[in-house]
Amino acid sequence: MDLGQYILLCLCAVSAIVWGCPQHCHCRNSQILCQGHEIQDFPSTIPTTTSAIYISNASVSLLKPTDVDAFSSALTIFVVRDSRISKVLPNTFDKTHNLIALGFTGTELFSLPEDLFQNLQSLTSLTLSNNKLKELPLSLLSPLKTLKSLDLSKNNLTSVPEKAFEGLIHLEMLMLQKNNIKEIYRGTFCGLRNLKLLFLHENSLKGMPANIFEDLINLETLHLQNNVIIHLSPDIFTHQLKLQKLYLSNNQLSKLPEGIFLNLHSLRQISLYDNQLQTLSCKTFGPMPLKDLWLYDNMLTQLEENVFSNLTQIRLLVLSRNQISHVSPGAFNGLHELKEISLHTNRLMRLEEGLFRGLPKLVNISLENNQIHYLPGRFLDGISYLYQLELQNNSLSYLPQELLNSLTKVDRVVLTENPWRCDSDIIPLRDWLRKNSDKVKNVSSLVCFSPSHLTNISIINLDDSFGGQKDNAISKMSHIIIIAVVCTSVIVGIIICVCWRKSKQGSGALHHQQRPNSTV
Ligand SMILES: *[C@@H]1O[C@H](CO)[C@@H](O)[C@H](O)[C@H]1NC(C)=O
Ligand SMILES: *[C@@H]1O[C@H](CO)[C@@H](O)[C@H](O)[C@H]1NC(C)=O
Ligand SMILES: *[C@@H]1O[C@H](CO)[C@@H](O)[C@H](O)[C@H]1NC(C)=O
Ligand SMILES: *[C@@H]1O[C@H](CO)[C@@H](O)[C@H](O)[C@H]1NC(C)=O
Ligand SMILES: *[C@@H]1O[C@H](CO)[C@@H](O)[C@H](O)[C@H]1NC(C)=O
Ligand SMILES: *[C@@H]1O[C@H](CO)[C@@H](O)[C@H](O)[C@H]1NC(C)=O
Ligand SMILES: *[C@@H]1O[C@H](CO)[C@@H](O)[C@H](O)[C@H]1NC(C)=O
Repeated sequence: MDLGQYILLCLCAVSAIVWGCPQHCHCRNSQILCQGHEIQDFPSTIPTTTSAIYISNASVSLLKPTDVDAFSSALTIFVVRDSRISKVLPNTFDKTHNLIALGFTGTELFSLPEDLFQNLQSLTSLTLSNNKLKELPLSLLSPLKTLKSLDLSKNNLTSVPEKAFEGLIHLEMLMLQKNNIKEIYRGTFCGLRNLKLLFLHENSLKGMPANIFEDLINLETLHLQNNVIIHLSPDIFTHQLKLQKLYLSNNQLSKLPEGIFLNLHSLRQISLYDNQLQTLSCKTFGPMPLKDLWLYDNMLTQLEENVFSNLTQIRLLVLSRNQISHVSPGAFNGLHELKEISLHTNRLMRLEEGLFRGLPKLVNISLENNQIHYLPGRFLDGISYLYQLELQNNSLSYLPQELLNSLTKVDRVVLTENPWRCDSDIIPLRDWLRKNSDKVKNVSSLVCFSPSHLTNISIINLDDSFGGQKDNAISKMSHIIIIAVVCTSVIVGIIICVCWRKSKQGSGALHHQQRPNSTV
């Protein structure tokens, strides 16, 4: 061994003593990452200057005060991830006064000692997600006066006790999603005046007390989707003047009380799809800057006049997969910015004239999978251009000429799967298809449904002698008339003939006598 190698070895040994990076760990600056199932006990030689510790995939099952005490004063970040820890003893974090972020995620923790966080007076972020927590001890969180972000998602909480978050006046983000929460109480969110984001989705909430969100005056985002909420109080969102995003989809709401959204003047996004909504009224939506509204998979049966008219900025309105059979001609009043409306898979049988009047920016209308058998000639009145009109899988048997004229302003029309009746009334459609085949999707699969001898014949290929049923009837009738006329004239002819012969026999001399005269 030469001198150089010797010095290097010495330096390594010294550094191991000074910085003491434990086995299975990586140490860099003052941060340590310890990883792997080989780690059975909490690493013991962690340098006192360590500011951040990350433990992951470790087999450590218990965390105790002596694991942490030695290096506690400089520590600001402590994170355990995907490890087998099932127990943290009381007082473990008593000396980590400077801790800013603490996290246990993907562990076996099912409970925590009540006083565990009592000395964490600088903590701003606490992550306890993806563990097996069943309940929150009453005063576990209340010492965390500086906390801004709290993640309790993906646990097994069934309720959140009243005052669980008491005193967390700086909390801005609270994540409680993906638990099994059935119950929250009147005071659960009491005092959280700075909360901006609240995640309560994917739980088992059926309802909530009327004033549950009363103190959340700065709330901007509220996730309540994927619960089993049946009912919401009309006043529940009264104080959320700053709410921008509200998610209520995948619940069991059958109605929205009048005025429930009237104070939400900042709302930019709302999700309401996959509920059981039966009606909407013109007092449901107040003025708000919504850009899209998704209402598919509900049980709406009709749309009354002005029902969306406060939503003057809306661009996309999705009403598909409901049971809508009636749309009032004024249902879309006021939607000056609307670009796309989806009404497919409903129970529409006819649509009123002028329904789309006053929607100057509309470019897509989807009406497929309904039972529409009649469209008025002025159905597209008010529209100057459409990109796409979908009418497939309806009950249309013909289209009036006036409507066909207006279809010229549509770029793409889908008309397949309708029971087209190929009599003389189909001629306007056939002629239109010939001129506009580039606009029509699958023009060759637009086929006759009736009469039976023309079933599945492509409409565009019908020639002028296709002999619809009506023409057939007419020609049969005219054959009968011609035969009748011919028969009648034959009979009349015979009668005249017989009469003439008889009269000739009676006055033969006269005829005979006259002839020479006539030839003179
Ligand atoms: C740690 O465990 C997680 C979850 O079990 C796994 O996805 C990941 O690949 C593991 N990482 C290492 C470095 O073992
Ligand atoms: C959650 O707790 C219930 C009992 O309260 C238990 O039946 C269930 O298995 C637990 N789920 C998990 C993922 O631990
Ligand atoms: C629009 O919002 C106002 C509240 O600002 C409400 O009174 C009204 O009923 C809503 N509907 C219509 C059609 O104006
Ligand atoms: C209209 O529909 C087409 C085809 O589905 C789509 O590509 C386009 O983005 C839609 N336009 C608007 C404004 O929604
Ligand atoms: C056609 O529409 C009906 C509802 O009117 C629906 O049940 C059916 O699945 C639709 N067919 C196709 C091929 O989409
Ligand atoms: C429309 O045409 C496409 C291909 O051009 C085909 O895949 C599709 O099945 C056709 N649809 C109908 C309803 O015929
Ligand atoms: C018409 O076409 C459909 C689908 O291709 C087929 O199921 C039906 O049997 C055809 N009907 C006749 C009368 O050819």
